[in-house]
Amino acid sequence: MDAPILRVAVLASGRGSNLQALIDAQREGRLGAAHIVVVGSDRRKAGALQIAHAADIATVVVDPRDYADRASFDLALFARIGEHQPDLIVLAGFMRILDPAAFAPWLGRLINIHPSLLPKYPGLHTHRRAINAGDAEHGATVHHVTAELDDGPPIAQARLPILAGDTPETLAARLLPLEHALLVRCVRDWQAAAIAAD
Ligand code: GRF
Repeated sequence: MDAPILRVAVLASGRGSNLQALIDAQREGRLGAAHIVVVGSDRRKAGALQIAHAADIATVVVDPRDYADRASFDLALFARIGEHQPDLIVLAGFMRILDPAAFAPWLGRLINIHPSLLPKYPGLHTHRRAINAGDAEHGATVHHVTAELDDGPPIAQARLPILAGDTPETLAARLLPLEHALLVRCVRDWQAAAIAAD
């Protein structure tokens, strides 16, 4: 019998450091049965696509400019991703608000990493907002995606103290490796639970 595999799709709009962390973990045997089968993006120039190419992972680009509206773009994106039959879709820096109707078939199999301690600071500029609010700590959340922006049941969080003199840039730089470890842990735990339930 073939070894079980958890098929993972990653959607990313930007540089793709979280994707790289997942690829590194997979290569080093730290992702268990999780296997990244496709990387999708809304931006042809996303660094994440270069990272996927370098790792010989299939890519899908769906350009919003080719669609009349958000809903039709989202439906096309999930249809293309669905062709790769993922068991889990990870939003890792995917910078578009998605239409709940488009991802309804994927509910329960769709997660996002967000750079704040949700429910604090959904949306953008999370590091600046945490500093400006005088928060003592900041962090990142991996959560299930639901119809609400950056909301949905949290799966796990990583925390770090905000230091005197922190800027949004220094805070983001210190948080990033914690995000990577958090996302790797969540995908590894997800595959462990999926395999155990099988
Ligand atoms: C990360 O901070 C992630 O939490 C947020 O977008 C950023 C993506 O970074 N959702 P990268 O493209 O994975 O480097």
